[in-house]
Amino acid sequence: MTAAAIIAIAIAALVVLFAVVLLTSARKSDVRGAGALSRETRKRDKDSLIDGPVVTGKDVERAAVAAREQSLVAAAPTVPTVWVAPDREEIGVSRRQFLNRATVTLMSAGLGTFAAAGFVAFLWPTAVPVFGGKVNVGKLNDILSSIRSNSGFFYSSSARSYLTVYPPEALPKAKGVANYKPLLDGLSQGLIAMYQKCPHLGCRVPQCPSSQWFECPCHGSQYNRVGEKKGGPAPRGMDHFAITISASGDVVIDTSTVFTGAPIGTNTTGQEAEGPHCITGGGHH
Ligand code: FES
Repeated sequence: MTAAAIIAIAIAALVVLFAVVLLTSARKSDVRGAGALSRETRKRDKDSLIDGPVVTGKDVERAAVAAREQSLVAAAPTVPTVWVAPDREEIGVSRRQFLNRATVTLMSAGLGTFAAAGFVAFLWPTAVPVFGGKVNVGKLNDILSSIRSNSGFFYSSSARSYLTVYPPEALPKAKGVANYKPLLDGLSQGLIAMYQKCPHLGCRVPQCPSSQWFECPCHGSQYNRVGEKKGGPAPRGMDHFAITISASGDVVIDTSTVFTGAPIGTNTTGQEAEGPHCITGGGHH
C-alpha cells in the first residue's frame, strides 16, 4: 500500500470521527441545562392540550389570594384618641419613689440627731465632772462620815484623789510650808486632797489601813496620812489639789492644777506608822 493510500484512509477516518462527534453534540444540545424539557416531553405536552386546559401553579396561587381577599371584612373607621397627662394625685407615689424618699428622710434624721448630740456635748462639756476640772465629790458631812468608816481615807475615782482629815493643831506648821499655801483654805476646814499618782514614777499609791499611811507597791515609797514623804525613793511628798467647800457643804476638788508635794523632811502632823506596813522594804530616807 502506498503512502498516498494510507493518507487517504487516515483522512477518511478523521472525517467519519468528526461526523460522529458532531452528531453527538447536536443531540446533547437538545437538553438546555437542568430543568429543560426534552423535545419528546414538549411534544407530549402539546398532545395533552388536546384533552383540556392545563392548571399551573401560578393559577392555584392566584385563586387562593382571591379567596382570601373575599373573606376579609373591612374595619370600621376609628377616631384617634388624644393623649392626656395623668393626674399626679390620682396615680400617687410609686414604690421606688416611696423607698427613695424614706431612705433620704431616715438618713437626714440620723445625721441631724448625731449633729445635735455633738452640739449639745460641745456646749456643755463640763456637765459631768471629769478629771482635769472641778469635781464635786459630795457633802462635807458625808465625806467625814465616810473617812471615819473607811479607816481614815476617802477615795474619789473621778477626781483621782484621796481625801483625809488635816488635824487643826498642825495648821500653824502648814502655814510655814510654801507648798501648802494654795491648800490652806481646805486645810483650815479640816481636809487635804492627795493626787493618787506617786511622785516617784507615777504608780497609783494605795492607802494602808494598818499603818494609816500611803504605801506605793511599785518601789516602796511611803507617805503619812497627809501625803508627807516618810520613806522610799520618791523625791518629795505626794502632790495635792486645792479644795473648796461651799456654803451648802459641797466639797469640790479642783483637779485643773497639780500642786507639787512638800519637800523631803516636811512633817507637819508628826504622824508615825500606827501599825504594820502594807509594803515592806520602803525604809526611811
Ligand atoms: S512609783 Fe511609787 S515608789 Fe516608785
